[in-house]
Amino acid sequence: MKNKNQRIIVFDTTLRDGEQCPGASMNLREKLEVARQLARLKVDVIEAGFPVISDGDFTAVQTIAREIKGPIIAGLARCVAKDIDAAGHAVKPAGRRGRIHVFLATSKIHREFKLGKAQDEIIRLAVEGVKRAKGFVDDVEFSPEDGSRTEPDFLIQVCKAAIKAGATTINIPDTVGWAVPDQFGALISQLHEAVPEFQSGKAVISVHCHNDLGLAVANSLAALANGARQVECTINGIGERAGNASLEEIVMAIDTRKDVYTGVACNINTREILKSSRLVSRMSGLAVQRSKAIVGENAFAHSSGIHQDGMLKKRETYEIMDPKRVGWGGTELPLTKHSGRAAVAARMRHLGFKMSDTDITSIFARFKEIGDKKKFVYDDDLRTLVEGQITEVPETWSLEYLNVTSGNQTVPTATVKLKRAGSDQAMIDAGTGDGPVDAALKAIDRLTATRGILIDYSLRAVSQGKDALGEVTIKADFGSGELVTGKGASTDVIEASARAYLNAVNRHLNEKAEGGVGSKSGKVRPARKGP
Ligand code: KIV
Ligand code: ZN
Repeated sequence: MKNKNQRIIVFDTTLRDGEQCPGASMNLREKLEVARQLARLKVDVIEAGFPVISDGDFTAVQTIAREIKGPIIAGLARCVAKDIDAAGHAVKPAGRRGRIHVFLATSKIHREFKLGKAQDEIIRLAVEGVKRAKGFVDDVEFSPEDGSRTEPDFLIQVCKAAIKAGATTINIPDTVGWAVPDQFGALISQLHEAVPEFQSGKAVISVHCHNDLGLAVANSLAALANGARQVECTINGIGERAGNASLEEIVMAIDTRKDVYTGVACNINTREILKSSRLVSRMSGLAVQRSKAIVGENAFAHSSGIHQDGMLKKRETYEIMDPKRVGWGGTELPLTKHSGRAAVAARMRHLGFKMSDTDITSIFARFKEIGDKKKFVYDDDLRTLVEGQITEVPETWSLEYLNVTSGNQTVPTATVKLKRAGSDQAMIDAGTGDGPVDAALKAIDRLTATRGILIDYSLRAVSQGKDALGEVTIKADFGSGELVTGKGASTDVIEASARAYLNAVNRHLNEKAEGGVGSKSGKVRPARKGP
């Protein structure tokens, strides 16, 4: 272990690299809610976005820099003046907690084929970029993109030059997930030996691993054992292509195997891990695989008789960490339809949501509807309602009434009544389809004069019991080739489907009205927007 009693820096890039994942883009309110949760989780750095990319990204970074207290707020920039200036302005409200993260590719393949630049030119640009960023903030991070595939001697030269220019963190990205643990650990060790500032603590070595070979977490841990002091990761491991190293896996590996990772510890509040995972999953529309370590539904489920028997005798026979430590299984007092507005508001505050009076009023109205249909309203039900409110876009159309008939001997038919914002009169239509959901969606298409093709549909039970709330997430294409995400929840899965589709229709209409392109909510960009 090269690190001796070091507190490692957890750099979360869910809102930047994570958001680059197809289908994960979030609107401002969603990003802000995720950033609030990351602060509760106590990450050290939040990379809030790539400000030059669009007005939406700029505003998101600036708002997070203004509103979120605690973590350092970073904005990404290429080694290009306009990028650095945009990042500098966006992180300004964070004051001394503002960081600019500049990057430039250094590997032979990127130099020759992507940039067409020689080594000395790369060093010159990196130095210029770091110096320009220093004009805005003290805290500058430099990333030699595709660092793991860069010739080590050249990588050392780049690190030294960037540090001399003022970078205080040098991040070594495994941009294409090419590294394997032994080799990556050895590379980090080599850099640690070769650059005096890494040994003296004047500069921090960071790593940023992608998961193309499923080795992102293993590579990050190998780097930590070899002198890295910052680790870049995302909640649920979401990110470009196969994703980034997963925050919860790295943190719990260090926490659970203190015997091996003797030299490192982090400041994460592990009890907030599950909540963070669920929030990111709902805000991004990306489901967590059931068997995902730490946060998947099955992560602590023991089904075999032998295991259950062992668990009853001594929990540690089959459980290497206490599920409560990562936020599973807290006792909760469910609300019922008799609970009042103050009780619902208090529960929402307890769950960590900061809501305006107007938000509470509309959530309370939905709570009453749900409370009439199910005996207990659990925390997860409430979270779904609140998060539905956060992901809400201006409701051009709202659902007033839905009636569906279906059966194995009937043509599925749906009658839908919708209200358009600003109009007193509701509009009604009925349609048939291949199934009840199809019939309802066709009627919505006709009423709203849109035509969406359903590309993806998923349904999950939010809480326990036969009367559990069903949450539907859909992705639809309204003719542009870009996917729009929609979410809806109800005890009735057909109603949840109609609400999810209407949510996507409203997003689509809203984006069309705003001019459409860029970092708008729920939109899957066909081409990657970032590095
Ligand atoms: O994967 C990568 O190389 C990046 C850099 C911008 C750090 O995301
Ligand atoms: Zn990346």
